[in-house]
Amino acid sequence: MIAFDRVSKRYPNGREALLNVSLRIEPGEMVFLTGRSGAGKSSVLKLVALLERPTRGTVTVDGANTSTLPSRAIPAFRRKVGVVFQDHKLLMDRPVFDNVALPLVVADTPLREIDRRVRAALDQVGLLGKERVLPSELSIGEQQRVGIARAVIAKPPVLIADEPTGNLDHGLAVEVMKLFKRFQEVGVTIVIATHDLPLVQQFGQREIHIVDGQVRDGAMAEALPAAAATPPGPPSPGPATGLRAGPGPDPSTLPNLQARR
Ligand SMILES: Nc1ncnc2c1ncn2[C@@H]1O[C@H](COP(=O)(O)OP(=O)(O)O)[C@@H](O)[C@H]1O
Ligand SMILES: [Mg+2]
Repeated sequence: MIAFDRVSKRYPNGREALLNVSLRIEPGEMVFLTGRSGAGKSSVLKLVALLERPTRGTVTVDGANTSTLPSRAIPAFRRKVGVVFQDHKLLMDRPVFDNVALPLVVADTPLREIDRRVRAALDQVGLLGKERVLPSELSIGEQQRVGIARAVIAKPPVLIADEPTGNLDHGLAVEVMKLFKRFQEVGVTIVIATHDLPLVQQFGQREIHIVDGQVRDGAMAEALPAAAATPPGPPSPGPATGLRAGPGPDPSTLPNLQARR
């Protein structure tokens, strides 16, 4: 479902975030991407979501090579990949309904269909009945679940999450992970970047471990051919840059769904 073939990523500032990364994630797998802050986890996810393109090598997602995808195919590609952010990126002044509906609104889905699917997605994350509530009225754990409902509403075959439990205590983190597990059980391929090792151990999924922009372990279900010896990396990087949403739609231009219901 996801394949990296000798992928390197260098940012415009010259920072080489990933070096010769090869990995495979099979359809329906749930995989943890681990490594210290600055290791390159978010960069891997950004390449999967086509928020960035590789400098070298190829990234293939659901059969599409992200480097050769024509621009007209990009919106459809992005709908294949649901994204969950650490800080959920909800529109705090819009009700839960509008937040969850966003990917469908952008895709011009008929309103009745949106209504049905928002309820189904909220039901899946245990928040049915919260449609009209503002995110600010919800707990942090609930807000994160709204973010997950939004990520899955377009039924993407791939779900990626960047430190989705980073702001949650262990109990809430476990609940969120169980939710991801449920989506995996219905066939979604899931990649979760995290540095919460106890959580990773508790869920016992494959772990792809990244050190200084290189895959140290777990690139495939079987062992990879021995990686070339790695030169010592540059000094420890500064604060990690999280996965950022693209410019996306301007919320003020979105129809007020609640008003029309
Ligand atoms: N947009 C960017 N521009 C420049 N450097 C970046 C950018 N994003 C990440 N980096 C750098 O790339 C390296 C890997 O970052 P990242 O993928 O965010 O790691 P992680 O998510 O594991 O903390 C870090 O050194 C980080 O500072
Ligand atoms: Mg990160």
